[in-house]
Amino acid sequence: MFCFIRNITLIFLFLSSKHQTYLLLFCYTNSNFKELNLKTMKSNIGITQENLAKVAHSLNVLLADETILYIKTRNAHWNVEDPNFHALHLFLEEQYGILAQIIDDIAERIRSLGHYAEATLKGYLELTHLTEKKSKKNDGPGYLKELLDDHEAIIKELRGNIPVYDEDWNDVGSSDFITGILQTHEKIAWMLRSHLK
Ligand SMILES: [Fe+2]
Repeated sequence: MFCFIRNITLIFLFLSSKHQTYLLLFCYTNSNFKELNLKTMKSNIGITQENLAKVAHSLNVLLADETILYIKTRNAHWNVEDPNFHALHLFLEEQYGILAQIIDDIAERIRSLGHYAEATLKGYLELTHLTEKKSKKNDGPGYLKELLDDHEAIIKELRGNIPVYDEDWNDVGSSDFITGILQTHEKIAWMLRSHLK
């Protein structure tokens, strides 16, 4: 008896003697499946492999920046000491939640382009534009100003990359994707500035 399950063929052989029945099972993959060579399957989405690699690397740098900013925002959430502590604590919690979602979206965008997302702290520290310097003072304005500077640095980096992704690397999807991230950072930057006035 033959049985085809997706790309695998199973052959069942029943052998019977007077007292017992034996089942022999043979299994092999179809040749077409081998020819697919899934380990090296490349994205075929109308962007050259060279350009996909450039976009993926740039998105990994962005992923590193967002991860460092996420940690710095959590640091402020935990360690801020200020007469306005409770409001700041909640305000910063909301922000690192937004950053966590951005981080996940970037990593999955990289995967959808056929590349791997950086996922080590060592790798992030090598790629990031930001610095992990510890704030001298742990009051509200000190933390908020440092976070504002980082958000504005990411905004400027993204603004420069939006036309490059589209015009130089032919990836309008990723250009649109980082435009959305830029808008989110602009909104957070406005809120940080409003706290600092
Ligand atoms: Fe918390």
